[in-house]
Amino acid sequence: MKKYFIKLLLTGINAGYKQLRKRVIFKVSAQRAHDSTIILTRYLEKYGFAIRFAAFLHSIAFKEKPTEVGGAKLTHPLILAAGFVKGEGFRSEGDALTAVYHNKNNIIPGWRIIPTLVGPVEFGSFTRFPRMGNPGTVVWRNIESQSTQNRIGLKNPGAMAAAKFLGGKKEKLPKEFGINIAVSPGIPDVNQQEKEMVESIEFFIDEGVIPTWFTLNLSCPNTEDDPLGHQLEAETRQLCGGFINHLESHNLDVPLWVKISPNLQREQYHMLIRIFDEVGVKAIIATNTLAQPTPDDPTIQAGVGGGELFEEAIMAVAHLRLEKISKGYDIDIVGCGGIVNGLTYRDYRTLDVKAVQYWSAMIYRGPLAAAIIESELPKHEYEFDPIYSESLAKH
Ligand SMILES: Cc1cc2nc3c(=O)[nH]c(=O)nc-3n(C[C@H](O)[C@H](O)[C@H](O)COP(=O)(O)O)c2cc1C
Repeated sequence: MKKYFIKLLLTGINAGYKQLRKRVIFKVSAQRAHDSTIILTRYLEKYGFAIRFAAFLHSIAFKEKPTEVGGAKLTHPLILAAGFVKGEGFRSEGDALTAVYHNKNNIIPGWRIIPTLVGPVEFGSFTRFPRMGNPGTVVWRNIESQSTQNRIGLKNPGAMAAAKFLGGKKEKLPKEFGINIAVSPGIPDVNQQEKEMVESIEFFIDEGVIPTWFTLNLSCPNTEDDPLGHQLEAETRQLCGGFINHLESHNLDVPLWVKISPNLQREQYHMLIRIFDEVGVKAIIATNTLAQPTPDDPTIQAGVGGGELFEEAIMAVAHLRLEKISKGYDIDIVGCGGIVNGLTYRDYRTLDVKAVQYWSAMIYRGPLAAAIIESELPKHEYEFDPIYSESLAKH
């Protein structure tokens, strides 16, 4: 009975959101819709009744589906990907810390209400120092293919201010969340990168903000760096090894996940999974967005997510999955890219992916996207399908 009620409710919410999308959200530019969402989130987060309503919606829309992936225990296998709850940009660490100390503003809108509503969320990316991100229009959408495109450029308050802000709210932090740390853009020296990465982790640990998992983002396509440079053998080994050593030095049993790019060569995926296995990374998030020319200026690139990313991302998962089996690596793969409905989710499940991340689905399916997608998954026992996997990896 309850099952049918939930199905009916999700169908109603889905239909309502479709109307809202058509009549309001898609009537304005993607940029304006994005900015308004942040303002609305920040506004709602001030009110206890909004948080309670989010918790109520969660309790009726989401069926608990306990999932163990990459050394983390989750209540649900669909995780909101990094970039949704990431915080404001600041010009300097001083400005960001002033905002935290004076409690002037909620510098990470969504930190409370979004996990209350959707369950597992990956916060960030946070870099060692604050970033203002790129100027001008930085978000686009392609409604037909259910895609997003962004060149936000790692706008964030910096790891120190983010840690102090979240540290001041420890008792209200969600019971499951990830923290995504991105390598500092514009720093060619890998030793300096490692130092800044370790400092970033240390801020969170110092503040007692201990996530369910950490993610190291090696793959942001929207900064001054070429993300491929961070995914070379020596650099990957040093950064991931350094991250894990640092967690171990604190006796912290928090797993490290690493987020990688789509569109790499097969050999590069093989090399990456080998190194991750060697140093003890627990899960690979495949993938981040794919750099493509922007609709406004073809000389500028921005990361595509959603429908147009699906093929590249799932191909990456297939390469990793086959290599994992052939070499016996003990590492999970978290699919990410173009999961916007039950069928796209099913395709990842067929590659034996236990958990996935989504971002664009929040735009196309609404804030309860994870519950709706889960409810659309064709009922079936999902087992690894090697033929499907081989056929994807042939491309
Ligand atoms: C506006 C926007 C901002 C994003 N910011 C980040 C980020 O800060 N760090 C990160 O690792 N990924 C970021 N991403 C990438 C998403 O986490 C995700 O990997 C990507 O959108 C693919 O998932 P999707 O196809 O479900 O959208 C961002 C994506 C969007 C659309």
